[in-house]
Amino acid sequence: MGKITAAITGVQGYLPKDVMTNEDLAKIVDTSDEWITTRTGIKERRVMRDGASSDMAAEAVKALLEKKGVDPSEIELVIVATVTPDYPFPSTANVVCDKAGMKNAWGFDLNSACSGFIYALSTGAQFIETGRHKKVLVIGVDKMTSIIDYQDRTTCVIFGDGAGAVLLEPNDEGNGVLDYILRSDGSGRQYLIQPAGGSACPPSHQSVEERMHFVKQEGKQVFKFAVTNMADVSAEIMEKNNLSSDDVDWLVPHQANLRIIDATADRMGLTKEKVMINIQKYGNTTAATLPLCLWDYENQLKKGDNVILSAFGGGFTWGAVYLKWAY
Ligand code: UT7
Repeated sequence: MGKITAAITGVQGYLPKDVMTNEDLAKIVDTSDEWITTRTGIKERRVMRDGASSDMAAEAVKALLEKKGVDPSEIELVIVATVTPDYPFPSTANVVCDKAGMKNAWGFDLNSACSGFIYALSTGAQFIETGRHKKVLVIGVDKMTSIIDYQDRTTCVIFGDGAGAVLLEPNDEGNGVLDYILRSDGSGRQYLIQPAGGSACPPSHQSVEERMHFVKQEGKQVFKFAVTNMADVSAEIMEKNNLSSDDVDWLVPHQANLRIIDATADRMGLTKEKVMINIQKYGNTTAATLPLCLWDYENQLKKGDNVILSAFGGGFTWGAVYLKWAY
């Protein structure tokens, strides 16, 4: 028997039913379908009217476990990647365990913005590889509409709500998570930030009046860093694992901007057919973009496919994961 790796053995997404189109946004802020489509590739996004991040995550988990025939009591660890937790504490993982009936699990939240899912996937994989756990859930979820300023056209057109969950289990066939490169550079924090609500700037009348509880982004700066670093790290993980562009079956890129996705695919030498894209339907759902891509493309993935997940986000944080699809 070979080395034990952590394989994704199931994936499930959850999207709120309400759709907000570019035309809907043009009625709220000074924007247009043409601007949003050409600058980002987004046509519509989902909006959660009632409920919290944990509700979307719990729905994804319940459907995933039912699909897999796994009883919630069998789950041992739950990692929730999110920048929109239900509360500062307790953790959203804690709440999701309760809502989805995972009585025997422990869990925690992980905050690395749009890189959250690859950070969480790499972390969850460790618990499988060591043999400590047999069933780990990794969830990416964000209710971005809860921290978006609908007076700020530069950010409100980009983001949407959603959740995605994967089940990790041990694999002895050489499939699963094989490598990762994760990076962070906190000196970029001012370019993409929710300035208030934490210990640096606790909530006050002033913080609310100045709209500091909403996402602030300097789009051009973030774009510049994202386009270089996401492409670089994706090429680096290919090189490190001796993968040519022919060897790579799928790129699963963070869905922030179609131009960043195209630049990453170009750098990797990949044709469009190998790139998972659903930004037009959901916008940027932060930690949920990657599992939602895997879910949308699940039927096209084949056992043994070489898959590279790649992301860039606030912090700055970025990185790539190389895995072989296991089913
Ligand atoms: O997921 C986490 C990581 N985040 C990202 O990767 C996002 C990276 N950044 C981006 O994707 C892009 O920078 C944006 C999509 C956010 C913006 O696109 P851009 O091509 O960088 O536009 P810009 O910020 O340079 O703005 C160009 C113009 C400006 O007008 P002027 O100054 O040229 O007259 C903006 O005021 O477009 C204007 N503008 C808009 N116009 C219509 C900005 N937002 C809008 C809007 N509708 N929603």
